[in-house]
Amino acid sequence: MYFHLPTKIYCGKDSADRLGRLKESKIMICADPFLKENSALQASVHKLEAAGKEVILYMDIVPDAPMSKIQEIMEVIQGKKVEVLVAIGGGSALDATKSARFFYEKIFGIRLPLIAIPTTSGTGSEVTSYVVIKDGKTGKKTPVVDEKILPDIAILDPTCVGTMPASVARDTGLDVLTHALESLVSKPSNVFTATYAKKAIETVFEDLKKAILEDDAGAKERMHYASTMAGVAFGQSGLGINHSLAHAVGGKFSIPHGRINGVLLPYVIQFHGSHQEDLYDDMMEGLGIEGFSPERRLNNFLKDLKKLRKDLDLPNTIRDLGIEEKDFNQALDGLVDLAIKDPCTESNPIEVTREDLKGILEAAYYGHSKKRVYAATVIGRPSF
Ligand SMILES: [Fe+2]
Repeated sequence: MYFHLPTKIYCGKDSADRLGRLKESKIMICADPFLKENSALQASVHKLEAAGKEVILYMDIVPDAPMSKIQEIMEVIQGKKVEVLVAIGGGSALDATKSARFFYEKIFGIRLPLIAIPTTSGTGSEVTSYVVIKDGKTGKKTPVVDEKILPDIAILDPTCVGTMPASVARDTGLDVLTHALESLVSKPSNVFTATYAKKAIETVFEDLKKAILEDDAGAKERMHYASTMAGVAFGQSGLGINHSLAHAVGGKFSIPHGRINGVLLPYVIQFHGSHQEDLYDDMMEGLGIEGFSPERRLNNFLKDLKKLRKDLDLPNTIRDLGIEEKDFNQALDGLVDLAIKDPCTESNPIEVTREDLKGILEAAYYGHSKKRVYAATVIGRPSF
């Protein structure tokens, strides 16, 4: 069993004010370009400048930064003799800065302190030792995992969470749920990762709708923390085939990561339940889910999940995402190839075959299964 979290977490309203206490004098802020007008970013810059610091503001972040962009950040670090890195933004800003810090240390032997301030509630990147680096030519994404990638400090300031369109808040919230559910049952999961995962799952069911549909500030704040809790959990336990399939399908058809995760989720859970009916039982009590047997409880959980998806207006199937049947069928074998090789498949609780993954994808496309994987299920046909 293993649990290790070297990242210090500061949270709460105005926790980003801590930036003003930095002792170093050359601070580089790497931020998403759309944050230019963001009041939290401007306040951070003002705070640092008021404290007599030199602020180097880099806002040329692109989604899934290629190596050339990471090199560009390293050149700024070297040219300006930066002493501290501050990443402000969504997963792309955090990942690019984490990568630049990591490779800068590898090349020059200098390890810079890194502070991560997420402005979205989804990736958990502020507490994970993962980054994904895209090949600028082929578009191939390569995950890099190393404890040295972990930020030193994560600041979870609810005032930094910008106003997101409802569909983005929904997609990122469902990514949090997928991280937590996959972490909870993954092979390396343990009592510590499961504790964070369960709290994140409970928070999503309690607060995601309130945050999006009622614009509830408390719910938004709790969702921001749930994203980090899920990150703490999956950062150490790994994920599973939901993410393997989401990486493949999302990459092929350009579907937002959280959205495709949310679409696949009930089909993957149903598949797992058909192999091990009590797999998710550990979280049922916390969610107030009752039933006289594991399969009843799992069915009740799937009903709750279906309701959450419906209330948030998430499409039920891959077909509902606008993917043509011929395109899907043409891509199917290639998607299975990618998913079976994806590193997330390794930590999945159930060993899967190519046929299993194909069956799940077909079920998720049509909303029902033509395949044996569901025919023998103890919990009936999926009705999503
Ligand atoms: Fe994810």
